[in-house]
Amino acid sequence: MSGKIYYNGNIVDRENAKVDIEDRGYQFADGVYEVVAFYHGEPFTLNEHMERLVFSASEIDIELPPAEILIKEAKNYIKETEYADKNAKLYVQVSRGVASRSHAYPDGMEPIIIMKAGPLDPNPEKYFQEGVKIITLPDERWSRCYIKSIALLPNILAKKKAKKAGAYEAIMTRDGFITEGSSSNIFIVEDETIITPPATNYILNGITRQTVINRLAPELNYEVKEESIPYYTLLNTDQVFLTGTTTEIMPVVQINDKVVGNGKVGKETKEIFEAFRELTGFVRGK
Ligand code: PDD
Repeated sequence: MSGKIYYNGNIVDRENAKVDIEDRGYQFADGVYEVVAFYHGEPFTLNEHMERLVFSASEIDIELPPAEILIKEAKNYIKETEYADKNAKLYVQVSRGVASRSHAYPDGMEPIIIMKAGPLDPNPEKYFQEGVKIITLPDERWSRCYIKSIALLPNILAKKKAKKAGAYEAIMTRDGFITEGSSSNIFIVEDETIITPPATNYILNGITRQTVINRLAPELNYEVKEESIPYYTLLNTDQVFLTGTTTEIMPVVQINDKVVGNGKVGKETKEIFEAFRELTGFVRGK
Protein backbone atom coordinates (compact mmCIF):
# COMPACT_ATOMS: atom_id res chain seq x y z
CA MET A 1 0.00 0.00 0.00
CA SER A 2 1.35 3.37 -0.94
CA GLY A 3 0.58 6.93 -0.03
CA LYS A 4 1.27 9.38 2.73
CA ILE A 5 -0.21 9.33 6.21
CA TYR A 6 -0.40 12.12 8.77
CA TYR A 7 0.81 10.72 12.08
CA ASN A 8 0.93 13.05 15.08
CA GLY A 9 2.27 16.04 13.20
CA ASN A 10 4.51 14.11 10.80
CA ILE A 11 3.79 12.98 7.28
CA VAL A 12 5.07 9.45 6.82
CA ASP A 13 4.90 6.74 4.17
CA ARG A 14 1.91 4.41 4.52
CA GLU A 15 4.14 1.43 5.35
CA ASN A 16 5.76 3.30 8.22
CA ALA A 17 2.44 4.26 9.87
CA LYS A 18 2.06 1.47 12.42
CA VAL A 19 -0.36 0.77 15.27
CA ASP A 20 1.07 -0.43 18.57
CA ILE A 21 -0.68 -3.59 19.82
CA GLU A 22 -1.42 -1.74 23.04
CA ASP A 23 -2.98 1.23 21.33
CA ARG A 24 -6.29 1.77 23.15
CA GLY A 25 -8.05 2.51 19.87
CA TYR A 26 -7.06 -0.96 18.73
CA GLN A 27 -7.81 -2.74 22.03
CA PHE A 28 -10.88 -0.88 23.32
CA ALA A 29 -12.18 1.17 20.36
CA ASP A 30 -11.14 4.01 22.67
CA GLY A 31 -11.18 6.91 20.25
CA VAL A 32 -13.13 9.21 17.97
CA TYR A 33 -13.03 10.09 14.28
CA GLU A 34 -14.20 12.28 11.41
CA VAL A 35 -14.67 11.89 7.67
CA VAL A 36 -14.31 15.07 5.60
CA ALA A 37 -14.90 15.52 1.87
CA PHE A 38 -12.58 17.57 -0.33
CA TYR A 39 -13.96 18.72 -3.70
CA HIS A 40 -11.22 19.53 -6.20
CA GLY A 41 -8.78 19.98 -3.34
CA GLU A 42 -11.09 22.33 -1.41
CA PRO A 43 -12.25 21.09 2.00
CA PHE A 44 -16.01 21.06 2.56
CA THR A 45 -17.13 22.12 6.07
CA LEU A 46 -13.69 21.22 7.46
CA ASN A 47 -14.05 23.66 10.37
CA GLU A 48 -17.31 22.06 11.51
CA HIS A 49 -15.80 18.57 11.30
CA MET A 50 -12.69 19.51 13.28
CA GLU A 51 -14.78 21.32 15.89
CA ARG A 52 -16.92 18.20 16.25
CA LEU A 53 -13.77 16.07 16.56
CA VAL A 54 -12.47 18.22 19.42
CA PHE A 55 -15.94 18.06 21.02
CA SER A 56 -16.24 14.26 20.63
CA ALA A 57 -12.77 13.85 22.14
CA SER A 58 -13.56 16.12 25.08
CA GLU A 59 -16.76 14.10 25.75
CA ILE A 60 -14.57 11.04 26.34
CA ASP A 61 -11.92 12.91 28.32
CA ILE A 62 -9.34 13.28 25.53
CA GLU A 63 -7.82 16.72 25.15
CA LEU A 64 -6.91 17.67 21.58
CA PRO A 65 -5.15 20.72 20.17
CA PRO A 66 -7.64 23.49 19.23
CA ALA A 67 -9.67 22.94 16.03
CA GLU A 68 -7.78 25.78 14.24
CA ILE A 69 -4.53 23.82 14.53
CA LEU A 70 -6.13 20.60 13.27
CA ILE A 71 -7.68 22.48 10.34
CA LYS A 72 -4.26 23.82 9.31
CA GLU A 73 -2.67 20.40 9.71
CA ALA A 74 -5.38 18.77 7.56
CA LYS A 75 -5.01 21.33 4.77
CA ASN A 76 -1.20 21.04 4.79
CA TYR A 77 -1.40 17.27 4.78
CA ILE A 78 -3.82 17.08 1.83
CA LYS A 79 -1.45 19.30 -0.18
CA GLU A 80 1.31 16.75 0.37
CA THR A 81 -0.78 13.89 -1.03
CA GLU A 82 -1.84 12.85 -4.51
CA TYR A 83 -5.27 14.38 -3.70
CA ALA A 84 -3.99 17.97 -3.54
CA ASP A 85 -6.42 19.10 -6.27
CA LYS A 86 -8.78 16.16 -6.48
CA ASN A 87 -12.01 14.96 -4.91
CA ALA A 88 -10.96 13.18 -1.76
CA LYS A 89 -12.15 11.73 1.50
CA LEU A 90 -10.10 12.56 4.57
CA TYR A 91 -10.29 10.10 7.46
CA VAL A 92 -9.17 11.56 10.78
CA GLN A 93 -8.84 9.30 13.78
CA VAL A 94 -7.90 9.97 17.36
CA SER A 95 -6.93 7.18 19.72
CA ARG A 96 -6.44 7.80 23.43
CA GLY A 97 -2.93 6.47 22.95
CA VAL A 98 -0.77 3.56 24.05
CA ALA A 99 -0.81 2.05 27.55
CA SER A 100 -0.60 -1.37 29.12
CA ARG A 101 -4.08 -2.92 28.81
CA SER A 102 -6.32 -1.92 31.70
CA HIS A 103 -9.91 -0.64 31.44
CA ALA A 104 -9.27 2.55 33.42
CA TYR A 105 -6.83 4.61 31.40
CA PRO A 106 -3.84 6.25 33.09
CA ASP A 107 -3.83 10.03 33.55
CA GLY A 108 -1.91 12.22 31.14
CA MET A 109 -1.99 9.98 28.08
CA GLU A 110 -0.76 11.31 24.75
CA PRO A 111 -3.47 10.89 22.10
CA ILE A 112 -2.48 9.66 18.64
CA ILE A 113 -3.94 11.58 15.71
CA ILE A 114 -3.78 10.08 12.25
CA MET A 115 -5.15 11.34 8.93
CA LYS A 116 -5.48 9.37 5.74
CA ALA A 117 -6.58 10.79 2.39
CA GLY A 118 -8.31 8.49 -0.07
CA PRO A 119 -10.52 8.74 -3.13
CA LEU A 120 -13.97 10.23 -2.51
CA ASP A 121 -15.55 7.24 -4.28
CA PRO A 122 -18.90 8.92 -4.82
CA ASN A 123 -21.99 6.78 -5.13
CA PRO A 124 -23.17 5.89 -8.64
CA GLU A 125 -25.04 8.72 -10.31
CA LYS A 126 -28.04 6.38 -10.77
CA TYR A 127 -28.55 6.30 -6.99
CA PHE A 128 -28.93 10.07 -6.84
CA GLN A 129 -31.18 10.28 -9.89
CA GLU A 130 -33.46 7.32 -9.20
CA GLY A 131 -33.21 6.90 -5.43
CA VAL A 132 -32.21 3.92 -3.31
CA LYS A 133 -33.71 1.30 -1.01
CA ILE A 134 -33.27 1.30 2.76
CA ILE A 135 -34.11 -1.27 5.39
CA THR A 136 -35.15 -0.67 8.99
CA LEU A 137 -33.90 -2.44 12.09
CA PRO A 138 -33.69 -1.86 15.86
CA ASP A 139 -31.11 0.62 17.12
CA GLU A 140 -28.80 -1.46 19.30
CA ARG A 141 -26.27 1.26 20.07
CA TRP A 142 -25.34 2.94 23.34
CA SER A 143 -27.01 6.17 24.52
CA ARG A 144 -24.22 8.60 23.56
CA CYS A 145 -24.49 8.44 19.77
CA TYR A 146 -23.78 12.19 19.49
CA ILE A 147 -20.11 11.28 20.03
CA LYS A 148 -18.44 10.21 16.79
CA SER A 149 -16.86 7.18 18.41
CA ILE A 150 -14.75 4.63 16.52
CA ALA A 151 -16.72 1.91 18.36
CA LEU A 152 -18.99 1.09 15.43
CA LEU A 153 -19.96 -2.59 15.79
CA PRO A 154 -23.75 -2.03 15.69
CA ASN A 155 -23.30 0.32 12.72
CA ILE A 156 -21.17 -2.03 10.66
CA LEU A 157 -23.47 -4.99 11.35
CA ALA A 158 -26.48 -2.89 10.35
CA LYS A 159 -24.79 -1.75 7.13
CA LYS A 160 -23.86 -5.31 6.25
CA LYS A 161 -27.51 -6.38 6.73
CA ALA A 162 -28.55 -3.57 4.42
CA LYS A 163 -26.06 -4.65 1.75
CA LYS A 164 -27.23 -8.25 2.01
CA ALA A 165 -30.81 -7.05 1.48
CA GLY A 166 -29.73 -5.10 -1.61
CA ALA A 167 -30.27 -1.81 0.22
CA TYR A 168 -28.10 1.29 0.47
CA GLU A 169 -28.59 1.93 4.17
CA ALA A 170 -30.13 0.60 7.38
CA ILE A 171 -32.26 3.06 9.33
CA MET A 172 -32.44 2.35 13.02
CA THR A 173 -35.50 2.61 15.26
CA ARG A 174 -35.66 3.11 19.01
CA ASP A 175 -38.90 2.89 21.02
CA GLY A 176 -41.03 3.20 17.88
CA PHE A 177 -39.18 6.26 16.51
CA ILE A 178 -36.50 6.46 13.86
CA THR A 179 -33.05 7.67 14.86
CA GLU A 180 -30.62 7.64 11.92
CA GLY A 181 -28.79 5.45 9.44
CA SER A 182 -25.69 3.39 10.18
CA SER A 183 -23.61 6.19 8.63
CA SER A 184 -26.13 8.86 7.66
CA ASN A 185 -28.98 11.04 8.95
CA ILE A 186 -32.55 10.83 7.70
CA PHE A 187 -35.12 13.40 6.58
CA ILE A 188 -38.71 13.17 5.40
CA VAL A 189 -40.76 15.75 3.49
CA GLU A 190 -44.42 16.36 4.35
CA ASP A 191 -46.46 19.15 2.74
CA GLU A 192 -43.30 20.98 1.63
CA THR A 193 -41.91 20.87 5.18
CA ILE A 194 -38.59 19.16 5.77
CA ILE A 195 -38.63 17.06 8.95
CA THR A 196 -35.75 15.31 10.69
CA PRO A 197 -35.30 13.76 14.14
CA PRO A 198 -33.92 16.25 16.70
CA ALA A 199 -30.22 16.20 17.57
CA THR A 200 -30.57 14.34 20.86
CA ASN A 201 -27.97 12.04 22.40
CA TYR A 202 -29.42 9.22 20.25
CA ILE A 203 -28.09 10.52 16.95
CA LEU A 204 -24.94 12.01 15.50
CA ASN A 205 -25.65 15.62 14.60
CA GLY A 206 -24.35 15.27 11.04
CA ILE A 207 -22.56 18.17 9.41
CA THR A 208 -24.46 17.47 6.18
CA ARG A 209 -27.67 17.40 8.25
CA GLN A 210 -26.78 20.83 9.64
CA THR A 211 -25.99 22.08 6.13
CA VAL A 212 -29.50 21.11 5.01
CA ILE A 213 -31.18 22.64 8.07
CA ASN A 214 -29.20 25.87 8.33
CA ARG A 215 -28.30 26.59 4.75
CA LEU A 216 -29.99 24.71 1.93
CA ALA A 217 -33.58 24.56 3.21
CA PRO A 218 -33.65 28.27 4.19
CA GLU A 219 -32.16 29.23 0.79
CA LEU A 220 -34.93 27.28 -0.89
CA ASN A 221 -37.54 28.74 1.48
CA TYR A 222 -38.49 25.43 3.01
CA GLU A 223 -39.56 25.20 6.60
CA VAL A 224 -37.57 22.70 8.67
CA LYS A 225 -38.89 20.92 11.73
CA GLU A 226 -36.66 18.93 14.06
CA GLU A 227 -39.13 16.52 15.60
CA SER A 228 -39.34 12.85 16.47
CA ILE A 229 -40.57 10.72 13.57
CA PRO A 230 -42.57 7.59 14.43
CA TYR A 231 -41.63 4.51 12.46
CA TYR A 232 -45.14 4.39 10.95
CA THR A 233 -44.86 7.96 9.73
CA LEU A 234 -41.67 7.02 7.90
CA LEU A 235 -43.44 4.12 6.20
CA ASN A 236 -46.31 6.32 5.03
CA THR A 237 -44.54 9.47 3.96
CA ASP A 238 -44.10 10.67 0.36
CA GLN A 239 -40.43 11.63 0.38
CA VAL A 240 -37.40 10.43 2.28
CA PHE A 241 -33.75 11.33 1.89
CA LEU A 242 -30.47 10.62 3.66
CA THR A 243 -27.57 12.95 4.35
CA GLY A 244 -23.91 12.33 5.12
CA THR A 245 -20.41 13.21 4.04
CA THR A 246 -20.07 10.19 1.76
CA THR A 247 -23.82 9.78 1.20
CA GLU A 248 -24.25 13.48 0.25
CA ILE A 249 -28.00 13.95 -0.38
CA MET A 250 -29.47 10.56 -1.23
CA PRO A 251 -33.13 10.10 -2.20
CA VAL A 252 -34.90 7.00 -0.86
CA VAL A 253 -37.62 5.36 -2.95
CA GLN A 254 -38.08 2.06 -1.13
CA ILE A 255 -38.23 1.12 2.57
CA ASN A 256 -38.05 -2.64 3.15
CA ASP A 257 -40.67 -3.93 0.67
CA LYS A 258 -42.66 -0.72 0.53
CA VAL A 259 -42.37 1.88 -2.22
CA VAL A 260 -42.05 5.48 -1.00
CA GLY A 261 -44.68 7.82 -2.50
CA ASN A 262 -44.91 7.24 -6.25
CA GLY A 263 -41.48 5.59 -6.33
CA LYS A 264 -39.83 8.63 -7.90
CA VAL A 265 -37.53 11.26 -6.43
CA GLY A 266 -39.75 14.08 -5.11
CA LYS A 267 -39.51 17.78 -5.98
CA GLU A 268 -38.18 19.06 -2.64
CA THR A 269 -35.64 16.26 -2.35
CA LYS A 270 -34.38 16.99 -5.87
CA GLU A 271 -34.03 20.69 -5.12
CA ILE A 272 -32.08 20.04 -1.92
CA PHE A 273 -29.85 17.57 -3.80
CA GLU A 274 -29.17 20.08 -6.57
CA ALA A 275 -28.48 22.90 -4.12
CA PHE A 276 -26.01 20.66 -2.33
CA ARG A 277 -24.22 19.84 -5.57
CA GLU A 278 -23.97 23.48 -6.39
CA LEU A 279 -22.60 24.24 -2.95
CA THR A 280 -19.91 21.58 -3.15
CA GLY A 281 -19.12 22.41 -6.78
CA PHE A 282 -18.97 18.72 -7.37
CA VAL A 283 -19.04 17.90 -11.04
CA ARG A 284 -19.04 14.23 -11.96
CA GLY A 285 -15.94 12.91 -13.63
CA LYS A 286 -13.74 15.90 -12.86
N1 PDD B 1 -20.50 8.82 8.93
N2 PDD B 1 -24.83 9.36 11.49
C1 PDD B 1 -23.84 8.46 11.63
C2 PDD B 1 -24.02 7.34 12.58
C3 PDD B 1 -22.66 8.62 10.87
O1 PDD B 1 -21.67 7.73 11.02
C4 PDD B 1 -22.55 9.69 9.95
C5 PDD B 1 -21.32 9.91 9.11
C6 PDD B 1 -23.62 10.60 9.85
C7 PDD B 1 -23.56 11.79 8.94
O2 PDD B 1 -22.68 12.76 9.44
P1 PDD B 1 -21.93 13.81 8.51
O3 PDD B 1 -22.97 14.50 7.71
O4 PDD B 1 -21.25 14.71 9.47
O5 PDD B 1 -20.97 13.04 7.64
C8 PDD B 1 -24.74 10.41 10.64
C9 PDD B 1 -19.24 8.91 8.23
C10 PDD B 1 -19.33 9.51 6.89
C11 PDD B 1 -18.56 7.55 8.24
O6 PDD B 1 -18.66 6.88 9.25
O7 PDD B 1 -17.91 7.17 7.25
